[in-house]
Amino acid sequence: MRAIVCKHYGPPQSLVLEELPEPVPGPGQLVVEVRAAGVNFPDALVVQGKHQYRPVPPFGVGCELAGTIKALGPRVGGFSIGQRVYAQGSHGAFAEVALVDADAVRPMPDDLSFEAAAGLSITYNTAYYSLVILGRVSPGETVLVLGGAGGVGLAAIEVAKACGARVVAAASNPEKLAVCAAAGADMLINYSAENLRERLRHFAPQGVNVVLDPVGGAYAEPSLRAMAWQGRYLVVGFAAGEIPKIPLNLVLLKGCSVTGVFLGEALSREPETARAIETGVGELMAAGKIRPYVSARYPLERTADALNDLLMRRVIGKIVITP
Ligand SMILES: NC(=O)c1ccc[n+]([C@@H]2O[C@H](COP(=O)([O-])OP(=O)(O)OC[C@H]3O[C@@H](n4cnc5c(N)ncnc54)[C@H](OP(=O)(O)O)[C@@H]3O)[C@@H](O)[C@H]2O)c1
Repeated sequence: MRAIVCKHYGPPQSLVLEELPEPVPGPGQLVVEVRAAGVNFPDALVVQGKHQYRPVPPFGVGCELAGTIKALGPRVGGFSIGQRVYAQGSHGAFAEVALVDADAVRPMPDDLSFEAAAGLSITYNTAYYSLVILGRVSPGETVLVLGGAGGVGLAAIEVAKACGARVVAAASNPEKLAVCAAAGADMLINYSAENLRERLRHFAPQGVNVVLDPVGGAYAEPSLRAMAWQGRYLVVGFAAGEIPKIPLNLVLLKGCSVTGVFLGEALSREPETARAIETGVGELMAAGKIRPYVSARYPLERTADALNDLLMRRVIGKIVITP
């Protein structure tokens, strides 16, 4: 079977497509024939050694997938060969066949495509954990989503709307903003062309209650300055590449909180939080309130292009590898 392997940390073009023996599932594991694998910004950071998670090379790349079960290891119950499943948290999703822990595998809803299911876990789990569990968004509140047309951003718009919030989406061009609007955003800001702080003052004169920030860089401080009393600023990531330094007097003056969002750590440290996220996202999916938006598909041999497109800000919503 063919798989994308990171042999040493470096840019996406240093990844290698290798022919490897098919994995054999051990106790508690199963083997999935991958039909689609979600591409996430953290994948691009991990292969460069720029993420907090630093596996030792060589390692298989890609951490979420959807496909059909090919083999079951000992002591795996509740699954059958050929079943359609999706999974998060495994290495080696960018491959024809992947080995996954049964604990991380879920049956796919019947009406979902492999491509949509492959991009379901990380973005929606991050958005739900941020906005519902940490941000406690309530109906009528105003939520600002930076990088609104990104994977996490678009998921966050849908989750915030499902919470009954007014959503301001900010992104870097009109095409991205049109997708934010289609996902439910009520107000749009092109932060490449408009003054973010002024537009926020216009849309939310009383201030923004919650900021979801997967971008960082120069957008963080104007967003914090636009917050309402006792707002919640959710630090999700730094796609802009620059970690902002915040004057803490602003936090005092707004009586607001700045909360770090670390989904992977929360899932492994807090079983109750993990269950709440899974249940919550499942309910939103069943209610038709979230619809994964897949904008492009890449074959395995174009994995580097997929990761570079993310790094170059060329992607809208989710992209997937289809082995
Ligand atoms: N904390 C967690 O648990 C967690 C979980 C998942 C992801 N993340 C982080 O969340 C962030 C977003 O992930 P994602 O998978 O949603 O990525 P994505 O789809 O690429 O979205 C990132 C967005 O950031 C914006 N951006 C601004 N400056 C950029 C730059 N210089 N390069 C690239 N993008 C830039 C882009 O929108 P515009 O062009 O419109 O500005 C882009 O749509 C990443 O930093 C990722 O590491 C964190």
